[in-house]
Amino acid sequence: MAAALSLSLKLVCFHAFTISLLASNHLGQSADTYIVHMDSSAMPKPFSGHHGWYSSMLSSVSDASTPTGAAVTPSTTAKLIYTYSNSINGFSASLTLSELEALKKSPGYLSSTPDQFVQPHTTRSHEFLGLRRGSGAWTASNYGNGVIIGLVDSGIWPESASFKDEGMGKPPPRWKGACVADANFTSSMCNNKIIGARYYNRGFLAKYPDETISMNSSRDSEGHGTHTSSTAAGAFVEGVSYFGYANGTAAGMAPRAWIAVYKAIWSGRIAQSDALAAIDQAIEDGVDILSLSFSFGNNSLNLNPISIACFTAMEKGIFVAASAGNDGNAFGTLSNGEPWVTTVGAGTMDRDLYGILTLGNGVQIPFPSWYPGNPSPQNTPLALSECHSSEEYLKIRGYIVVCIASEFVMETQAYYARQANATAAVFISEKALFLDDTRTEYPSAFLLIKDGQTVIDYINKSSDPRASMAFQKTEMGTKPAPMVDIYSSRGPFIQCPNVLKPDILAPGTSVLAAWPSNTPVSDNFYHQWYSDFNVLSGTSMATAHVAGVAALVKAVHPNWSPAAIRSALMTTANTLDNTQNPVKEVSNDTVTALDMGAGQVNPNKALDPGLIYNATAEDYVQLLCAMGFTAKEIQKITRSSYECLNPSLDLNYPSFIAYFNDESSAPDELVQVFHRTVTNVGEGQSNYTAELTPLKGLKVKVDPEKLVFNCKHETLSYNLTLEGPKSMTEYLVYGHLSWVSDGGKYVVRSPIVATRMDPGMAPDFFGGF
Ligand SMILES: *[C@@H]1O[C@H](CO)[C@@H](O)[C@H](O)[C@H]1NC(C)=O
Ligand SMILES: *[C@@H]1O[C@H](CO)[C@@H](O)[C@H](O)[C@H]1NC(C)=O
Ligand SMILES: *[C@@H]1O[C@H](CO)[C@@H](O)[C@H](O)[C@H]1NC(C)=O
Ligand SMILES: *[C@@H]1O[C@H](CO)[C@@H](O)[C@H](O)[C@H]1NC(C)=O
Ligand SMILES: *[C@@H]1O[C@H](CO)[C@@H](O)[C@H](O)[C@H]1NC(C)=O
Ligand SMILES: *[C@@H]1O[C@H](CO)[C@@H](O)[C@H](O)[C@H]1NC(C)=O
Ligand SMILES: *[C@@H]1O[C@H](CO)[C@@H](O)[C@H](O)[C@H]1NC(C)=O
Ligand SMILES: *[C@@H]1O[C@H](CO)[C@@H](O)[C@H](O)[C@H]1NC(C)=O
Ligand SMILES: *[C@@H]1O[C@H](CO)[C@@H](O)[C@H](O)[C@H]1NC(C)=O
Ligand SMILES: *[C@@H]1O[C@H](CO)[C@@H](O)[C@H](O)[C@H]1NC(C)=O
Repeated sequence: MAAALSLSLKLVCFHAFTISLLASNHLGQSADTYIVHMDSSAMPKPFSGHHGWYSSMLSSVSDASTPTGAAVTPSTTAKLIYTYSNSINGFSASLTLSELEALKKSPGYLSSTPDQFVQPHTTRSHEFLGLRRGSGAWTASNYGNGVIIGLVDSGIWPESASFKDEGMGKPPPRWKGACVADANFTSSMCNNKIIGARYYNRGFLAKYPDETISMNSSRDSEGHGTHTSSTAAGAFVEGVSYFGYANGTAAGMAPRAWIAVYKAIWSGRIAQSDALAAIDQAIEDGVDILSLSFSFGNNSLNLNPISIACFTAMEKGIFVAASAGNDGNAFGTLSNGEPWVTTVGAGTMDRDLYGILTLGNGVQIPFPSWYPGNPSPQNTPLALSECHSSEEYLKIRGYIVVCIASEFVMETQAYYARQANATAAVFISEKALFLDDTRTEYPSAFLLIKDGQTVIDYINKSSDPRASMAFQKTEMGTKPAPMVDIYSSRGPFIQCPNVLKPDILAPGTSVLAAWPSNTPVSDNFYHQWYSDFNVLSGTSMATAHVAGVAALVKAVHPNWSPAAIRSALMTTANTLDNTQNPVKEVSNDTVTALDMGAGQVNPNKALDPGLIYNATAEDYVQLLCAMGFTAKEIQKITRSSYECLNPSLDLNYPSFIAYFNDESSAPDELVQVFHRTVTNVGEGQSNYTAELTPLKGLKVKVDPEKLVFNCKHETLSYNLTLEGPKSMTEYLVYGHLSWVSDGGKYVVRSPIVATRMDPGMAPDFFGGF
């Protein structure tokens, strides 16, 4: 794997939401938000509900109730922000340190964590994944009809064509969700497609009381939530594009699933307290799937409120898709790797969006571009410049300026080219640009050194160098695809390294989906462009794809557990690209399951996986026990008493990761045994045979090598044994165990990774491989 690339080369792009992080300026002690876990069984008799109990507890610890003589402003009194009852037992509150200390002595207090602010992990994808109207998974699942996908995101733009409710039935009686009206818009937030819309910003406002909320409703004013909602479950919309790029029919993965929106992202940030309130309500409302495209935060598993909420969701049978993060490509950068969620990495699609630079001598140079504007300079003179001094202005005005790679950063060059009124610009750099940064205000081409040199040589040799530029080009069917994109965060998940993460790959790069019509698609400082569809990249986009595909599986198998659905997605995933070669990274480096999990999600096959690896809440508890969490810590996650009867790091998971990293002792052999149980969900009587790919330097064996099922729903067990030196010679080896049914109808494939990396080390330590 190549060393991590820096991707965030921002070019004349300014975020629309510039946030001033004002320190709170209260008199007396300043208050912070805390999420407090309570033992609900400790509630004293007189209280009929938790809300009353917590309120009374807070007023009794409030600094204001014990005046010390100094003037106390109302903002320093303990304030209840949310009461939680479905996801955790507890509440969030604004507390001073002395109030927090007093609270810790209250009966029923278990623990608390400061509220963290975390980041969101910001139309052809359905065809690319093999979904076709009138066949395969869409027909079998009736396009996900009957399933409710809840998205905790930045809200939704209900007027978008993607959320038309044609052909959608009324929400089912089991649905308890609500549609909170938007005071400023007369039209409803909901219809028979969007069946729930709520919003949560009390945690955000507790931290940033002076910030203006641009839409104090579940209406989206940032775009992220509209984009992910339509990717997961948008209806068919014909003839859409982003300024001519990526034209075609847009549709979500589950075009007939219902959407429930829980807005908790505000100005590009999300408070754990708000996200928790959103998930708490989504569980009560009765969603089937949760799509979470933001970082859960960095607290340890037993203290992370979002992890815990996801555990409860899993217990209630809710499938949770969560983004791996955009911090790749070093190992150990992955977030949201909780073993009870499905963690999603991002890959490319077989589609290029680009522009073409045509030199006067006829040479054509394509370059990646999302430039949304109209001007396409024709036969315009070229000028070479370092693009950094105003003396050069006159030489540039009206030209296509070619800015030579120099010590001047591209932002500076782009600024000068603009100030000088160049007609267009060609920027030359050593590194490929993040595509989002190609939405420049004037026509621009971004070339790597080799293509850049072609242009420079042409200018040098020609007496009248000229060029033309064209934009809004789309090429379909590009190869190879998918590739794992550089930015996608890589496993292992440092907090739980014995479960291989990420789980799965889905399209995340240059995804076209719906967009609010009042929100600019480009955060370019000088120009604002608007469009009802926008192109975005990130594991957020990939996660929405997986949430939609999970809805298709759920529509066909309503009783499958979240683990069973995850297993179906993973064991049927594609590990080959569209050239039938192993999936690679965008840099053409080899990838392993730590980059892409089991492979790219394959909806048509996921509906009928043959065998599944199931797991119960009890199994996850035994994993937590083996990880060394105390009974008290585990109780914070499970909220009920489970016992550590059979602690084991060996979760019944459809993938394997083994560490051979013990350099301390004599060079003995190490034998690692994985025990797995599979359930036959395919045909009644069927036999499966194990196929193993070799792993360099290790002895690998499966026992038994044949599984003979006599009936449907029967479970059988096997062991996978890896044997090798305590410290492996190879840094990392990667292969597969496949159970192949007689006749080959089913191939139930699991990735195997063995490595000598030490997940106890900081990610930076083992980043550069
Ligand atoms: C309604 O719009 C006004 C003016 O744009 C704004 O100040 C107000 O906050 C909005 N209210 C809501 C509920 O979004
Ligand atoms: C947002 O609306 C809620 C009612 O829905 C109101 O209680 C709250 O004060 C509003 N907040 C802001 C910042 O406008
Ligand atoms: C997209 O636009 C191009 C150029 O206008 C056209 O050739 C192509 O057929 C369109 N593709 C689709 C899927 O509509
Ligand atoms: C965890 O996140 C918080 C806030 O997002 C940050 O201040 C802190 O440094 C992080 N801690 C670690 C160990 O990364
Ligand atoms: C660029 O164009 C603007 C607007 O027409 C003009 O005000 C400015 O003087 C021009 N700058 C140069 C360097 O020509
Ligand atoms: C232009 O060509 C001359 C002669 O071949 C060479 O010395 C010079 O370095 C070239 N300039 C650039 C900018 O490439
Ligand atoms: C998996 O386990 C859960 C919990 O024990 C159970 O409800 C479910 O039926 C099992 N099988 C499948 C296919 O989900
Ligand atoms: C990767 O390899 C393919 C074909 O092997 C090639 O077309 C492509 O340009 C390469 N990409 C990079 C980033 O080197
Ligand atoms: C499965 O294997 C058993 C034992 O090898 C054999 O008796 C049986 O006929 C096989 N069943 C099928 C459906 O192939
Ligand atoms: C798997 O290994 C365990 C001990 O690690 C053993 O008890 C069990 O019999 C083995 N099962 C099979 C099917 O080999």
